[in-house]
Amino acid sequence: MVVDLVVVGLGYVGLPLARQACAAGLSTLGHDVSASVVAGLGAGRSHVGDVRDAEVADMLSAGFRATFDPSVTGHGETVVICVPTGLSADGAPDLAAVRAASRRVATHLRPGTLVILESTSYPGTTEEVVRPILERGSGMRAGEDFHLAYSPERIDPGNGRFGIRNTPKVVSGCTPLCAKRAVAFYGRFVDTLVVSRGTREAEMAKLLENTYRYVNIALVNEVALFCDKTDIDVWDVLHCAATKPFGFAPFVPGAGVGGHCVPVDSRYLAAKAEAEGVPLRMLSAAQDVLSQMPRHVVERAARLLAELGKPVCEAKVLLLGVAYKPDVADTRESPAAPVAKGLRDKGAKVTYHDPYVPEFTVGGALVERVECLPEALADADLAILLQDHACYDMTMLTRARCALLDTRGKASGARVTRL
Ligand SMILES: NC(=O)c1ccc[n+]([C@@H]2O[C@H](COP(=O)([O-])OP(=O)(O)OC[C@H]3O[C@@H](n4cnc5c(N)ncnc54)[C@H](O)[C@@H]3O)[C@@H](O)[C@H]2O)c1
Repeated sequence: MVVDLVVVGLGYVGLPLARQACAAGLSTLGHDVSASVVAGLGAGRSHVGDVRDAEVADMLSAGFRATFDPSVTGHGETVVICVPTGLSADGAPDLAAVRAASRRVATHLRPGTLVILESTSYPGTTEEVVRPILERGSGMRAGEDFHLAYSPERIDPGNGRFGIRNTPKVVSGCTPLCAKRAVAFYGRFVDTLVVSRGTREAEMAKLLENTYRYVNIALVNEVALFCDKTDIDVWDVLHCAATKPFGFAPFVPGAGVGGHCVPVDSRYLAAKAEAEGVPLRMLSAAQDVLSQMPRHVVERAARLLAELGKPVCEAKVLLLGVAYKPDVADTRESPAAPVAKGLRDKGAKVTYHDPYVPEFTVGGALVERVECLPEALADADLAILLQDHACYDMTMLTRARCALLDTRGKASGARVTRL
């Protein structure tokens, strides 16, 4: 059996891609190494916030199946690899999943197949890492016997306005024909395609997009640290600066930067730049600033509690929103973890409220979850707003009995202190 698409890696990127392809009428299968992901999808359960169970049911009705069996990749006219690109214990790029997935695809590769890498990685990954694995494992040549392309994913979890169809997609190929095949494939369910010169330009474009965010978030955080020391209201500064209709893109300070992309991708770029002998100084400065932010939040909290006459070691502190961004369930690299740890280390009793996150573990120990927000606010000495999930009613938060440390600049009132 031949299908239009096999997606390898059914996570935050792969599952929405499979859903979009199914919805556009492409026959689609998926492969994942996680037994729980495969079993859950088979039972109609989504593990990704942006994909509803009902949509998985629609996919299954359209013929979608997820399997643990890698030989399924041999059935795809197009195979898209969406596996994680994380960091090793020492903070270096870890391409183990990309290598493993490529080896498995190579074993089952058929002539004429289009293989696309969507995982974010440093420039050169498609040509220097994936291509040799596919060629060695299959005995075939990219650009001649099969096609190889790179197209970075731009998915923005929780974004209701921009999805796969209406977000322009950068596409590249190892040869012009590879790129043409990739354009024909994505053109079936993406409105606007942007073809880059080669795969390295597409890989670099993705890293630039996320590094741009990383560096600018670091800049506003450093400005926030300066404003805190000099008694300037940083939120008013940002409000004023953002009224400029040209030449200024607003970013906001907070407890740090989280998620699987922005902090990780900048490490990929930094590592590649160091390996090439052209270290990017902006990146290390940004990393330095951002690593201070959770500690700054803990210190602000301790200062505030001291002003209220409550030593931090006796205080009950409630964290509001422990996901890495508003309205998502993802806690990867969330700055809430070092904030919780810092407060615990100072002896505070830390609890959290987050409707999206059923369990939150820090340093191997569970943080107590509270269900009823009004009761939790009544019980706490201090609440810290870390993520402004849409469900948080600022009027309710500002009227609470406890003090509020607002790291998002959203609340105001007598008992509110902004970061
Ligand atoms: N999450 C985002 O918002 C986002 C946005 C743009 C780009 N990306 C990039 O996309 C890639 C995937 O990220 P994600 O967030 O979807 O990750 P994820 O962890 O949500 O999902 C990855 C899936 O791949 C599976 N997997 C791991 N190794 C595998 C293998 N060898 N073969 C088959 N399946 C395997 C895992 O079990 C998991 O289900 C990363 O490179 C990431 O940087 C992510």
